[in-house]
Amino acid sequence: MKTSVPFDGYRRSGPGGHDELLVRVGPGTPAGEYLRRYWHPVAMAEEVGRMPGRLRILGEDLVLFRDRSGRYGLVHRNCPHRRASLEFGVCEDRGIRCCYHGWLFDVDGTVLEVPGQPEGVEERVRSSTRLGAYPVREYKGLVFAYLGPPEHRPDFPVYDTLEMPGHVMVPYRAPFRCNWLQVLDAILDPLHTAFLHSRMSREQFSRGFGEIGEMKFYERPSGFLGTATRRVDDNVWVRVNEVVLPNFTQAGAAFAADGTRRRYFGRTAFARWVVPVDDHETTCLAWAIFGERGDPESYNVPGGPELIEQGELFDRPYEERQRFPADAEATEGMGAITEHDRENLVPSDRGITLCRRRMRKIIAALQKGDEPDHVTSMWPSMVPTYGGDTVLRLPANGDDQAFLRRVGVAVMELQFAAETLAPDERDAHVIAALKDLEANGLPA
Ligand code: FES
Ligand SMILES: [Fe+2]
Repeated sequence: MKTSVPFDGYRRSGPGGHDELLVRVGPGTPAGEYLRRYWHPVAMAEEVGRMPGRLRILGEDLVLFRDRSGRYGLVHRNCPHRRASLEFGVCEDRGIRCCYHGWLFDVDGTVLEVPGQPEGVEERVRSSTRLGAYPVREYKGLVFAYLGPPEHRPDFPVYDTLEMPGHVMVPYRAPFRCNWLQVLDAILDPLHTAFLHSRMSREQFSRGFGEIGEMKFYERPSGFLGTATRRVDDNVWVRVNEVVLPNFTQAGAAFAADGTRRRYFGRTAFARWVVPVDDHETTCLAWAIFGERGDPESYNVPGGPELIEQGELFDRPYEERQRFPADAEATEGMGAITEHDRENLVPSDRGITLCRRRMRKIIAALQKGDEPDHVTSMWPSMVPTYGGDTVLRLPANGDDQAFLRRVGVAVMELQFAAETLAPDERDAHVIAALKDLEANGLPA
């Protein structure tokens, strides 16, 4: 163990190392292969216009387009003839045509036309050549793609929070100029809300977030949960942050829950995927969810999803970012890829440690040929999730820290017990059980 002595910057200078297994996302890299086993959102539907759009996902340069019959195509950026970029191509009734010599490609990459060649050439090219293409589907305003081996393509997962009747889902995009793991880590770090989002600058969400609370982490078959159980006056607020592996995240509400008002099984106000652009950039593609169990409709305004995502607007002057730093400042400030071997992890980082360890294990298994599990095999219809808030009126009782701990565990256990129920039944059951806990106190 290194001892700590004053003024030893010299001994700690020079470049540190990254967690190479987890941070590299390009084709053929360990984490890149792991991530390629899942559907990821790659754009918002409203971003796909009449022209093809260039994008980069998992270190691949791609072009996303809609042909004139309305079908999506996600293809390698460069034409297989002489590598012109298809971002300058023309969307046709069937597929996309390269601007340079007019080759036409279907959305699945099939070469349809090779104009201007002697007889027989088109036939030969069509049977021997293909444009790289990926399957795409649109769901509630986000465009998803699967970049992995076709034979391992999983079913598209539908999470319970994405099908809540009466809720409005607004797609948004949050860019981060850093590696995906830094962005993912924050969701399993309930402590940072008390500091970054409250005590260090201004209350970016509400007063209750400034309470540190009792933290606990749960490992689930589909991922990890981090709970923070806080005392707010006579109430106990249990907030659940969630990662469904590898990169789907949920938390509670940003503005609907502050611990002062009762809430029974409130659900996430932002459901998001942390999608690597490449090793050095990340885009969160997500919905802000408004309604009774999400965030208030009053935040469904321009800038509202940005405040829900990180408590501050994204694009701000440098000085304001210094005065009121939010998640982008915290994660990007680490550098494009943080130096993992210079971290000093402490008990509040346990969720991060567990999550990284589990991903390393899954990646090692994948390298040996064992494909990772999918939530759709565990939950073929709708996937139960946990991100959300519960606020119960339970005044302080003796050793309050111990009491908070026990309440947090009881609230989670009654949810786990209801996991196999159908969504409607589960909601009603959990809400009734929470009200019962509030009325009758903790089980002995
Ligand atoms: S480079 Fe695309 S058709 Fe020639
Ligand atoms: Fe945050």
